[in-house]
Amino acid sequence: MDISTTYLGLKLAHPFMAGASPLSARLDSVRRLEDAGTAAIVLHSLFEEQITMAATGRIRHRDPLERQFAADLSLFPTTTDYPFSPVEHLEHLRRVKAAVDVPVIGSLNGTTGEEWLKYATLLQQAGADAIELNLYEVVTDLTVPGSVIEHQIRSAVAELKRVLHIPVAVKLSPFFSALGNFAHQLDEAGADGLVLFNRFYQPDIDIRTMTAVPTLELSRAHELRLRLRWLAILHGRVRSSLAVTGGVETPPDGVKAILSGAHAVQMVSALLRHGPEYLQTMQRGLESWMEWQKFGSLGEVRGRASVQSSPDPSAFERAHYIRTLHSWGM
Ligand SMILES: Cc1cc2nc3c(=O)[nH]c(=O)nc-3n(C[C@H](O)[C@H](O)[C@H](O)COP(=O)(O)O)c2cc1C
Repeated sequence: MDISTTYLGLKLAHPFMAGASPLSARLDSVRRLEDAGTAAIVLHSLFEEQITMAATGRIRHRDPLERQFAADLSLFPTTTDYPFSPVEHLEHLRRVKAAVDVPVIGSLNGTTGEEWLKYATLLQQAGADAIELNLYEVVTDLTVPGSVIEHQIRSAVAELKRVLHIPVAVKLSPFFSALGNFAHQLDEAGADGLVLFNRFYQPDIDIRTMTAVPTLELSRAHELRLRLRWLAILHGRVRSSLAVTGGVETPPDGVKAILSGAHAVQMVSALLRHGPEYLQTMQRGLESWMEWQKFGSLGEVRGRASVQSSPDPSAFERAHYIRTLHSWGM
């Protein structure tokens, strides 16, 4: 049975890989991921704020020591809170590349297309097989329209494509008013892959102190459905390859992602919960499902549950919405 896949032009033995997380921050856990059979490894991110702080002592063009900015900027990790300095991060990537045979994807995480992005070239020089760009921002400025944000991200991708010879994936937020069009724009800008979706870590409110408190909960499978919907909508309609991230908890979740159109399945929470060896459970689960359904190759599975065959996917979505509301029984 052939469960190999191609993601970002990289030939992978199967679709399951470790997404960006602390699992890649130590060489021993990187080796453990490879021993557990990960198809590729996305390194934990190098952050724009970390890079600008090291280069200029500033975060978002502001000096954390200036009184007016101190309160907001003090929430950012200090230079020593990151596992590595930017230069050490490059060295770590070199070591990871020397330690494993699977493709290693470097991750850049920021909000702008500014100077810091030159680290993409440095990651490439250090041996990255591809770059995953994560422009994660909650846009709180009420005067900034969505089109400006889309333009910024599209330009950053086009610029990376101009300077790099390795593939570029874009880890996306689901919060665009016309996500399909934005995916199409990124495709036109040359993105080799789209990674659906960033998880937005939403602070809770502590009613004792009446302040927002950061919370980090590992994902559960119910988060997958938003991803399945958009994989199913984009499958076969963009040139970029598609990866899922977010809510792949068990082997059936992996199967659903591929049925919706995923070329690659990134996992973090499940690996933090069960250990890297869970990747083998995912692989075995996919193989036995394919055997049961009598599929010989992953190509036959991918996108089978996508909306590609629907002449009006929007009507399909609307019909499902109304039908779901009515399924409660009136
Ligand atoms: C502890 C932790 C650290 C993470 N670090 C990063 C990171 O450095 N860069 C990034 O793009 N995503 C990061 N993520 C997000 C994951 O890559 C992934 O997109 C998210 O957890 C959803 O996948 P999951 O449901 O399999 O956990 C992190 C997630 C966790 C839980």
